[in-house]
Amino acid sequence: MYVEYVRICTNKVSIIIRHKQLERYMINKIEELLAEIEAFTPQNSADVEAFRIKILGKKGALGALMEEFKSVPAAEKRELGQRLNHLKNVATERINTLKEEIGNAAAMNAAKIDDMTRPGSTESVGSRHPISIVKQEIESIFSRLGYTVADGPEIEDDWHVFSALNFPPEHPARDMQDTFFIESNPDVVLRTHTSSIQVRTMERQKPPIRVICPGRVFRNEAISYRAHCIFHQIEGLYIDRNVSFADMKQSLLYFAKELFGEQAQIRMRPSYFPFTEPSAEVDVSCSICGGKGCGVCKGTGWLEIMGCGMVDPNVLKYNNIDPNEFSGFAFGMGIERIAMLKYGVGDLRLYFENDVRFLNQFESAL
Ligand code: PHE
Repeated sequence: MYVEYVRICTNKVSIIIRHKQLERYMINKIEELLAEIEAFTPQNSADVEAFRIKILGKKGALGALMEEFKSVPAAEKRELGQRLNHLKNVATERINTLKEEIGNAAAMNAAKIDDMTRPGSTESVGSRHPISIVKQEIESIFSRLGYTVADGPEIEDDWHVFSALNFPPEHPARDMQDTFFIESNPDVVLRTHTSSIQVRTMERQKPPIRVICPGRVFRNEAISYRAHCIFHQIEGLYIDRNVSFADMKQSLLYFAKELFGEQAQIRMRPSYFPFTEPSAEVDVSCSICGGKGCGVCKGTGWLEIMGCGMVDPNVLKYNNIDPNEFSGFAFGMGIERIAMLKYGVGDLRLYFENDVRFLNQFESAL
């Protein structure tokens, strides 16, 4: 009986001792972890994450302590529980703070904000291409004269580029425009002028017709400072009853003054195009020297800007418009050339190279 009593007592004592040991062990462990948390100095966010997993992760140090906590007698639970809670709060707070600090440092590095007093870098705003600026300006001038803008395909057939415009087959005038043919099919061409859009307009619409036709055109020319195999044109067509050469002259004079300034004058020289009769080249007085003669106008005081003429009756006929009832005029100009004159650009290739040092110099309100 006594032996049994002693055994029970010893058991109790040893249980108490075990509990005391566990408690001490846990308190020590908690203190150790608190110290470790305080001393922790991570290099990067991966370090912080690894540390978080080590302390707060599922199989982390806090989890292990919680497991042990289950065997702590109820009487001790209160105090130890508070210590554990404290540990959890300290760890969570420290890890969150570290995460934030490292994130901020990374953002600072990324933005290279090493010197907060340094002036900010300005955003560069793009500008319109000079060809677009001039195209829009020309469109706007003619729209004030009642013209609308028409469009058409770049890959065309012989009819719209040549035949409907009174270029007979085998006629040498076709050589004036060095044509690109597609897949050796002589009927499929890259349009050499936007007159093809005028033909398409006449197909669709009965007079009165007043359109301008901007677009890219293609000619098999050697690339140089004054020629390119791709360039842009704006052509115009006006058909109505009693349209005269004088109407054309006045319209083009108005255009030249709007584009180059009130002092601009024009002159016309006889020329030849298969689709107009009579035809003319239009020169504008040199805006650089004011007509006195300079390097740009080669001493003549005049700069060639476009071709024009009265629509050939054959063209009207081919497009089902009665030449006895209607007459009209047409004109066509290269946008690059006009832009060169307007901005004093000496080399046409610059328009195609997209060098920002060139393009940055153009500004437009549009
Ligand atoms: N289509 C002609 C060309 O490209 C220009 C032009 C148009 C001439 C209209 C006269 C009339 O060269």
